[in-house]
Amino acid sequence: MEQYVIKGGTPLKGNVSIGGAKNAALGILAAAIMSDETVTIENVPNVRDTRVLLQAIEEIGAKVKYLDNNTVEINGSTITDVTVDYDYIKKIRASYYLLGALLGKKHESNVALPGGCNIGSRPIDQHLKGFRALGAFDDIDKGMVHVKADRLVGAHIYFDVVTVGATINLMMAACMAEGATILENAAKEPHVVDVANFLNAMGANIKGAGTDVIRIKGVDKLHGCSYSIIPDQIEAGTFMLAAATTNGDITVCNVIPKHLESISAKLLEMGCTVIEGDDSVRVVATDRTLKATNVKTLPYPGFPTDMQPQMAIALALAEGNSIVTESIFENRFKYVGELARMGAKIKVEGNTAYIEGVKGYSGADVSAPDLRAGAALVVAALAAEGFSVIDDIEYIQRGYENFEGKLSSLGGSIEKVDNERDLQKFKLKIG
Ligand code: UD1
Repeated sequence: MEQYVIKGGTPLKGNVSIGGAKNAALGILAAAIMSDETVTIENVPNVRDTRVLLQAIEEIGAKVKYLDNNTVEINGSTITDVTVDYDYIKKIRASYYLLGALLGKKHESNVALPGGCNIGSRPIDQHLKGFRALGAFDDIDKGMVHVKADRLVGAHIYFDVVTVGATINLMMAACMAEGATILENAAKEPHVVDVANFLNAMGANIKGAGTDVIRIKGVDKLHGCSYSIIPDQIEAGTFMLAAATTNGDITVCNVIPKHLESISAKLLEMGCTVIEGDDSVRVVATDRTLKATNVKTLPYPGFPTDMQPQMAIALALAEGNSIVTESIFENRFKYVGELARMGAKIKVEGNTAYIEGVKGYSGADVSAPDLRAGAALVVAALAAEGFSVIDDIEYIQRGYENFEGKLSSLGGSIEKVDNERDLQKFKLKIG
């Protein structure tokens, strides 16, 4: 089993290049099967989640070819099967995008109920409510979701909660429905906009993505295209918080600074210097004590729930008391117990974490409870005095490409090991 072994205490410094957005890629790769022509997608992060989704796509008969590490060609003309195997779906939540994509293309799909990170109950009622409004009927039987429609007809759909997944799924199904669809109370995340732009590049007619009303006019078919995925807001944010947490100086390159504004704003409140370039953001936190602040997670453009653990590990080193409120997922503080082993003082009550800043962390052996919390614990370990070992890093590999390589290039002492001997060798080498 792979682990990260880390010797902390060195401020991270330098430039790091950010890859394509995982959550946009998952929507776009699924949507690509809706065309019968070849689609080329660039800037696909080569992470576990995208690889697993591509396997599921191949399994139902589409042709998938990696042109290089981050470029994928997909041809959906050969799809024969509308059933997505449970083995794949249980590994990644976003396989549910195949429900919307296959419903739009084939008017039928069967997908096992999604898995993914265990960060809350994560229902899919809004996805199903939307499919029903388009004329599909659905049924859940032995863990499989079945959706089927004789005709898909555009409709007016109001989401009861702001949901990224249902917004993307409904854009996919509705773009091949007859007539017009209006999605109200839609999610506005950058990756929702990216999936809409991609569908439009294939010939769909979607307007308003990025606002809370999305208007879609159905088309008969989608054609091939080439498309490059936007940079990953959360990977960029993780490195920005790594600068703050380790008192470092990191420039995240190849980013869209606008997507990072809620994170930059909090870093400024915490006393960091933030310098925005055209496609970069530099965070300087050298030689200073971070200041406490309060953070509440909200749908975009609010502070992202996927950055909540990274922010909390920085605030737990700030001077004074901070409050972090999680308003999207109810089970997202599981890392707090692990962080306590490094010396953090955090008390969780319901969806609120009360943080009393400490002067420093000390290295410890901890487990990654989920993807983003796992990444946050790695950053905490890089700030901590002494050695740490992080277990269950397969969660982190779901969403970060070459995380250890990028952190090493910033001066972090981190190595991926898969046996006790290599772990001890690292400790001896680093001393
Ligand atoms: C996506 C992201 C995830 C991110 C989240 C919020 C992907 C693959 N994952 O997850 O990284 O943390 O957005 O930005 O893109 N809800 C319902 N009913 C539904 C759907 C959602 O009640 O049918 C609720 C959820 O329980 C949650 C909230 O709506 O409280 C937001 O969930 P949603 O935006 O759908 O998250 P995901 O798409 O699962």
